[in-house]
Amino acid sequence: MNLAVVGANGMLGQDLNRAAQVRGITMAGFDLPEIDLCRPDSLAVLPAVDAVINCAAYTRVDDAETDREPAWRINAEGAGNLARWCAAHAIPLIHISTDYVYNGRKGSPYVETDETDPLSYYGQSKLGGEVEVQRAGGKTCIVRTQSLYGLGGRNFVKAILNQILKGRTELTVVSDQVSCPTYTLHLAEGLLNLIQAQATGVVHLAAAGGCSWHEFACAIVEEVGAAVDVKPMHASSLNYPAPRPAYSVLDTSRYQSLTHATMPTWRQGLQAYLEEEPMVVELKQSNG
Ligand SMILES: NC(=O)c1ccc[n+]([C@@H]2O[C@H](COP(=O)([O-])OP(=O)(O)OC[C@H]3O[C@@H](n4cnc5c(N)ncnc54)[C@H](OP(=O)(O)O)[C@@H]3O)[C@@H](O)[C@H]2O)c1
Repeated sequence: MNLAVVGANGMLGQDLNRAAQVRGITMAGFDLPEIDLCRPDSLAVLPAVDAVINCAAYTRVDDAETDREPAWRINAEGAGNLARWCAAHAIPLIHISTDYVYNGRKGSPYVETDETDPLSYYGQSKLGGEVEVQRAGGKTCIVRTQSLYGLGGRNFVKAILNQILKGRTELTVVSDQVSCPTYTLHLAEGLLNLIQAQATGVVHLAAAGGCSWHEFACAIVEEVGAAVDVKPMHASSLNYPAPRPAYSVLDTSRYQSLTHATMPTWRQGLQAYLEEEPMVVELKQSNG
C-alpha cells in the first residue's frame, strides 16, 4: 500500500510515518512550504497513492479565537481544497477532525451521529473542514480524535514532566474537563486499520476510557515515581481564550465494528509513550 500524508512534520504525521514503516507501508510525507492546503496549485506534487491522510491544520486553539482568518483558511477552505483534489483523482481521503466539534454537555460518550455545536472558533473551523470534505463528493473518512500527545510535538505529558524536572513538588491541574488522552502512535495505528478496512463516513478514534486532566497528571506522576502533589482546579480559573468542552469522551464502537480492532486504554498509551520519551531518561538520571 502507498500513502501520502499532508502535515507530515506535525506530531501525528511523524507517528504515522513510524506506524507505516512497521507495517511495511510506503508513505510519502508532505508539509509546508512544499504543499500548502491554501494553495490548490501546490497539491499537484501529490503522487498517485492508495489514500491521502490530512494531518495538516491550524492547531493553536487559543490563538484561533482572534486569528480567525488563517484558522478558517487552513482548517475549512484548505481541507476542502485537498478533498476536491482527492475527489478529482479518485483517491480516498482520511481527514482528521476533533472532539471540539461537540459542546461537551451530553454527559456520556459521544457517537458520530450526535449533534455538533463547537464552543471555540478552532472547533468551528474544524467543523467547517468536515463540511467542505463531505461536499467535495469523493470517498472520504472523517476521523474525530482528541487530546493528542506524541514524541514529535508539544503536549500535556511533556509539560508535566518539565515541571517535575524543574523540581516542582506541587501542581494544580484542571479536574472538570474529561476527554481521553490519546497517544499519536496508537492513533496512527488505528488510522492505518481504517484505511485497510476502506472505512468511509465519520469515525471516532481515541484511546479507550476517559479521564480528567487532573487524573491524567496524577497517572503521569505515578508512572515516573515522582513525589508531586497534584491538586485539582476548575477550568474557569485558567481564563483560556477558547472555551473547551467539559466532557468529550468519544465512543469508538463504530471504529471497532469497521476494523475488528480495539484501541489501547489511555493508561496503556501513557505507558507506551513514557517508555520512549527522552525526558523520562533525564528524570531518572537526575534522581541518580
Ligand atoms: N493535538 C491535539 O490534541 C488534537 C486533538 C484533536 C484533533 N487534532 C487534529 O489532529 C490533526 C493533527 O494534529 P497535530 O497535533 O499533529 O498537529 P500539528 O503538530 O500542529 O501538525 C500540523 C502540521 O500541519 C502543518 N500545516 C499547517 N498549515 C498548513 C498548510 N496550510 N498546509 C500544509 N500544512 C500545514 C503544520 O506546519 P507548521 O507547524 O509549520 O504550521 C504542521 O506540520 C489536526 O487536524 C488537528 O486538528 C489534534
